[in-house]
Amino acid sequence: MPASIIDGKMIAAKVHEETAEEVAVLARDYNVQPGLAVVLVGDDPASRVYVNMKVKKCKELRIYSEKHALDKTATMEEVLELVKKLNNDSRINGILVQSPPPPQIDEDEVVAAINPAKDVDCFHASNVGKMLIGKNDGFVPCTPYGIMMLLERSGVDPSGKHAVIIGRSNIVGKPMMALLVQKAKGANATVTCVHSRTKNLPEITRQADILIAAIGQPEFVTADMVKDGAVVIDVGINRVEDPNGRSNYQLVGDVKYDEVFDKASMITPVPGGVGPMTIAMLLHNTIKACKQQNGIV
Ligand code: GUN
Repeated sequence: MPASIIDGKMIAAKVHEETAEEVAVLARDYNVQPGLAVVLVGDDPASRVYVNMKVKKCKELRIYSEKHALDKTATMEEVLELVKKLNNDSRINGILVQSPPPPQIDEDEVVAAINPAKDVDCFHASNVGKMLIGKNDGFVPCTPYGIMMLLERSGVDPSGKHAVIIGRSNIVGKPMMALLVQKAKGANATVTCVHSRTKNLPEITRQADILIAAIGQPEFVTADMVKDGAVVIDVGINRVEDPNGRSNYQLVGDVKYDEVFDKASMITPVPGGVGPMTIAMLLHNTIKACKQQNGIV
């Protein structure tokens, strides 16, 4: 049976609308404008695109934003000094350092230097810990949060279902496990995480009611790895050569979309699935940061 498509672009647009309403209320009732600082170190082309998209969306939603682009030769001292400055800047409620930075930059040390109250990415150990124990006064990392929102707004309740996550990154796989397993509304799943060292991986993915592919390998998930009627969430954004030669590259996910489409009950497309949700949840987190820092409930 062909799947129904989970339209991330549409759901993200709705979240942005809600964020814009919150921005308007903050201006009207509290005379406060949320602010986000985005730090880009180096010239990774994909990172540059993502950072520009984030800043553009801030402008659209009337969130104050600053883009700090540092040279690819920037030193740790320079990055840490900038983070410190942003930590102490009252116009800035959220700080994001785009990942991955160039090799001379120790990302862990940079993340540790961000004031956890402004860590809208939820990369800081303090916020990761809060998320793991189900405490709600930190943040939820943007991509896994976006996936939880996609499931909720598509009427998929993970409770009692077997969710299988392919990939164990700190940005997606690990936090995704933590969120789905929580004893909380919209979660309560039985969770398995499979990865590059997993034996009999397709045997496990075939048991998934909800299959989340976040392994960063183009079209890794094929139809034989998917149970009939599964909900399939594709986190991958891979640039591959365009087989038709029409442009320089084509974007494909971690799922072989055409064949899995016929097997799944619901599926996210690439692009237009998980991607747009990441920015939507980032700006949602920025509003939360602003409210918390201003004592607004
Ligand atoms: N690189 C890929 N995804 C992300 C993200 O969500 N936040 C940051 N800072 N960098 C990323």
